[in-house]
Amino acid sequence: TEPLRLGIAGLGTVGTGVIKIIRRQAALLEARTGRTIQISAVSARDASKDRGVPLGDYAWETDPVALATRDDVDVFVELMGGHEGAAKDATEAALAAGKDVVTANKALLAIHGQALAEQAEAAGRVIRFEAAVAGGIPVIKSLTEGLAGNDVTRVMGVMNGTCNYILTQMEATGQGYNALFEECDRLGYLEADPNLDVGGIDAGHKLALLASIAFGTKPAFDNVQLEGIQRISLDDIRHAADMGYRIKLLGVAQRTARGLEQRMSPCLVPANSPLGQLEGGTNMVVIEGDAVEQIVLRGPGAGEGPTASAVMGDICDIARGFRIATFGQPATSLEEAAPAQTSLP
Ligand code: NAP
Ligand code: HSE
Repeated sequence: TEPLRLGIAGLGTVGTGVIKIIRRQAALLEARTGRTIQISAVSARDASKDRGVPLGDYAWETDPVALATRDDVDVFVELMGGHEGAAKDATEAALAAGKDVVTANKALLAIHGQALAEQAEAAGRVIRFEAAVAGGIPVIKSLTEGLAGNDVTRVMGVMNGTCNYILTQMEATGQGYNALFEECDRLGYLEADPNLDVGGIDAGHKLALLASIAFGTKPAFDNVQLEGIQRISLDDIRHAADMGYRIKLLGVAQRTARGLEQRMSPCLVPANSPLGQLEGGTNMVVIEGDAVEQIVLRGPGAGEGPTASAVMGDICDIARGFRIATFGQPATSLEEAAPAQTSLP
């Protein structure tokens, strides 16, 4: 069989993680997918930077659009980030050139995902994005495959590790929000625009994607009711603890009589519940379905290995010939939906 040939744009944390897995696990990946997974070309801004992985075997393209449209690329792997500019241009160019796309870019998909999915469908290609929601947790695969027999009634989750780190450190150390924000800055945890993290926007992007898959709707980031963690005080944390609760930046998407409700905001959760026991930078997603009742998925939401793990899952699916589309899955439409189920577990 033919090799699956990749063009990888973005050689930062995630891109180099993907290259490491492909180099380290070449034989295993071939045994599992029946195809050699081969990197044809790579792209980043700075060609002279030492990235800790050998790149000499791969062609170099400074322009991600040129990379995305190369004849020796079957799958464009977009790991640059940003919802405009290079990531959007190259993804559109890749689909127009008949390539499948794998991306970890939640901002791009939350804002332009529907248009990109329609472009992919028209071209007979797929766009896959497991790593965009809750990093290493295979939540999209769980919803589209393992839970395909369910009418999903609600999805909830803690999907920004930085915010969960700040909130749990406020509890553990008694330091205030501002000191911990500065610590996150020093540790390199924050997005280039920190408001994406602490303003709840990054988690809101993930919730919009998760909801669209769970309920078969178009991703609707503009409809996410957003509130960040910037105003959470130590007093709030202490009062919550006194009552047996913890404060989490929690996303909830559920059907209501008025349609799909999506909220990302600081919430009180019982300290002894699974969400209430979540520490540090870890993510958790809770899915409720009419048949499965409730499942809880927990794991690392960020970092080189976990995020690359999710990207590789998508690449392997494409190598195996799985063509499942992730947006626009047939689902009970909201208009036809059963009465809203709003009670908390
Ligand atoms: P990163 O470390 O900042 O790396 C970004 C890479 O993209 C860099 O190699 C950069 O090149 C390259 N790049 C940026 N703009 C470019 C352009 N215009 N042309 C060519 N190359 C360009 O980012 P990351 O943490 O790996 O994240 C990548 C994506 O994964 C983002 O969408 C992010 O939201 C998503 N993600 C990340 C994580 C995580 O834990 N890091 C988790 C989930 C999802 P230079 O190196 O030359 O500057
Ligand atoms: N800034 C994100 C977080 C990175 O803290 O969870 C992973 O998407």
